[in-house]
Amino acid sequence: MDKLIISGGRPLEGDVRISGAKNAVLPILAATLLADGPMTIGNVPHLQDVTTTMELLGRMGVSLTVDERMRIEVDPSTLHQCVAPYELVRTMRASILVLGPLLARYGEAEVSLPGGCAIGSRPVNIHLEGLAAMGADIRVEGGYIRARANRLKGARLVLDTVTVTGTENLLMAACLADGITVIENAAREPEVVDLANCLKAMGARIHGAGTDTLTVEGVSSLHGCEYRVLADRIETGTFLVAGAMTGGRVRTRDTAPKTLDAVLLKLEEAGAHINVGEDWIELDMQGRRPRAVSLRTAPYPAFPTDMQAQFVALNTVAEGIATITETVFENRFMHALEMQRMGADIRIEGNTAIIRGVPRLKAAPVMATDLRASASLILAGLVSDGDTLVDRIYHIDRGYECIEEKLSQLGAGIRRVPG
Ligand code: EPU
Repeated sequence: MDKLIISGGRPLEGDVRISGAKNAVLPILAATLLADGPMTIGNVPHLQDVTTTMELLGRMGVSLTVDERMRIEVDPSTLHQCVAPYELVRTMRASILVLGPLLARYGEAEVSLPGGCAIGSRPVNIHLEGLAAMGADIRVEGGYIRARANRLKGARLVLDTVTVTGTENLLMAACLADGITVIENAAREPEVVDLANCLKAMGARIHGAGTDTLTVEGVSSLHGCEYRVLADRIETGTFLVAGAMTGGRVRTRDTAPKTLDAVLLKLEEAGAHINVGEDWIELDMQGRRPRAVSLRTAPYPAFPTDMQAQFVALNTVAEGIATITETVFENRFMHALEMQRMGADIRIEGNTAIIRGVPRLKAAPVMATDLRASASLILAGLVSDGDTLVDRIYHIDRGYECIEEKLSQLGAGIRRVPG
């Protein structure tokens, strides 16, 4: 198992290119199942989760080709089975995103239940209840969701909780349903909007993307198209936090600044100077130590849970005391326990972390438990005395493209050691 070694103590300086968004490309790849013709997806990040999705589609018989610029051409017309097997779903929960498209386009789907997860229980009941309300016959047997429908019917769906992939699954299903579907309490995340834009380019009729009510007029077929994936706001935020924690100056380019309002406000509160252009964000900390920033995670446009761990890392070396409350997932503070091993002063009370900043952390061997936790441990390593060894970094390769190359380019001391 590969490990990363981070030698702390250097302020990060320079430019970094932001990749396409993991959480946009995954539903968009699933949406290709809805098309009657080939699709070309551009700005695809080179990530393990993308490889897993390609393998998942490939096993169904879908033809895929990737060019040297990571543009993926997908031709679903060769599909011969509607199954997402356990061995792939257990490595990537987002596999559940094929359920809605398979059912809507092919009338059947067999998708393994995702099972346990390091950040919370993460049920998929809202996905299933929504599809059932659209007329699907759904059974859960032998660890698999088995769903059938002749043609889904438009329905009014009121989601119990704001769910990103739940909204995406139901949105994709509704595009080919008979009649109008209204999804209330829908997720407003930029990745949902990006999926909706892609579906519209395929001929779908969707109104209200980016609001909490999506209205979808079902059509009888969708065609192929070319689509370029949105920039990754979480990767952007992670590099900006790296700049802020190390007292450096980091410019992220090819990004989407409008998707980062809540994160940029918190970075300014921490004392960073932020400049924003059409597709770039520059953060300058001018050698200063960040000030503590308290926050509470919640669905978009509030502060994203996927940036919580990185802000815990920032607060470990900030001036003052911060409280960070996680409201989206029930168990997303594993990184805090690892940071304690690096000398961080963190107390966990229920779903809140209380962090008293110290001037520097101390290197220690630590273990990554999920994707964003891994990122936060790397950030902690950047402000530690000595060499921090981060183990189980396969998590990071699921969601950050070439993280060590990008951080090295900014002057960080980081290297991968094969294990
Ligand atoms: N929930 C239910 N029932 C459902 C679905 C969700 O109770 O049927 C609950 C969950 O347990 C959770 C809350 O609703 O407490 C929100 O979860 P959501 O469904 O929105 O999460 P997700 O769709 O599984 C996506 C991202 C996550 C991100 C969350 C929240 C993708 C592929 N994944 O997950 O990304 O944290 O939304 O924004 O889009 C990551 O990239 O590291 C990551 C975990």
